[in-house]
Amino acid sequence: MAAEPVNLNEFQELARLALPKMYYDFYAGGAEDEHTLKENVEAFHRITFRPRILVDVSRIDLSTTILDYKISAPIIIAPTALHKLANPEGEVATARAAASCNTIMVLSFTSSSSIEEVAASSNAVRFYQLYVFKKRDITATLVQRAERNGFKALVLTADTPRLGRREADIKNKMITPPLKNLEGLLSTKVSSDTGSNFEADANETMDASLSWKDLEWLRSITNLPILIKGILTREDGKIKAPSDDMSIALFCFPCSLRLKEDSFPFIHSIKAVEVGVAGIIVSNHGARQLDYSPATISALEEVVHAVKGRVPILMDGGVRRGTDVFKALALGAQAVLIGRPVVYGLAAKGEYGVRRVIEMLKDEFELTMALTGCPSVKHITRKHVRTEQERI
Ligand code: FNR
Repeated sequence: MAAEPVNLNEFQELARLALPKMYYDFYAGGAEDEHTLKENVEAFHRITFRPRILVDVSRIDLSTTILDYKISAPIIIAPTALHKLANPEGEVATARAAASCNTIMVLSFTSSSSIEEVAASSNAVRFYQLYVFKKRDITATLVQRAERNGFKALVLTADTPRLGRREADIKNKMITPPLKNLEGLLSTKVSSDTGSNFEADANETMDASLSWKDLEWLRSITNLPILIKGILTREDGKIKAPSDDMSIALFCFPCSLRLKEDSFPFIHSIKAVEVGVAGIIVSNHGARQLDYSPATISALEEVVHAVKGRVPILMDGGVRRGTDVFKALALGAQAVLIGRPVVYGLAAKGEYGVRRVIEMLKDEFELTMALTGCPSVKHITRKHVRTEQERI
């Protein structure tokens, strides 16, 4: 029995020891020089606290609400591919851990357990992550299955017109096991039955022409709320209008009324908020797509300022400590998602490991709240942190 880890980084080391090198590299790796991969973590280190003292923190309430779902802490499971590489129970174990921690799991489009298996395994609140394939009916079929199986929201990952260059996978000649939800749906060489190099073949399958107007198509095939994952700039977060007052007025229109750029020439671009998304996830895909994209904690505030509270903003990338969760909330996120630590927990100790990863992060976050003088998540403000630019 491996030693009991005391933090998330120790889970990473246990996972490294437990997994074949090819699989560990698949989980741990990032794009190209892995500059952004390091930055995702290190940018958190450059933010310090402005703790307040003599606040009654004898009781701390970590809970929060995301899209009407009350969860025990602002820590959600990010969509990550192929959990069966980490543990034979795959995403089913992860979903059970999510349920026992009372949090949300976002199931990956490229999961190794099926939508139905995951739905049957626990009563966790589940969101379903989507890629849009050139063959739209494949994506539409999966949306319907997610709806039928009680998934509560869709997360459209929008930073993947093509897959980033993950050199470890290229060197290891990474072969993925079957993609359970795609069984029988793909006629290309991306085989769901025998396993394949999905990473390489996906470029032929993904719809690289996907653009903002296709959100209408997605909205037309589902009633589920849609979150967009992969936003890193203010331009993609907001309507660009001459004045904030004007854009606030526009947001008073009923949701069903679609504003057209040509009828409102002062709108230069129609982006996430206007197309009616239910939430935004500031993410660089765990640094697996575009190297030298910014660390997500560095990009967060820009998007927060643009969105002005109109929809909830979540973030992921590099969250490894409870202090990181606090920093993200102080800079305007409503919750964080964690990717790699979950698969490391799963690889090291199965469902129990995932539970421990979430519990540890919650414990650290609670301690941070106590030591900064914040008895509930509502008490966490911008004034509790100092970014590098603000250093004196
Ligand atoms: C991912 N991520 C991801 N995102 C997504 O939308 N669909 C997916 O299938 C996957 N698959 C995936 C596999 C692996 C192995 C990793 C590490 C990541 C990205 C994921 O949702 C999330 O954005 C990052 O993992 C967050 O960064 P951290 O927590 O891993 O640092």
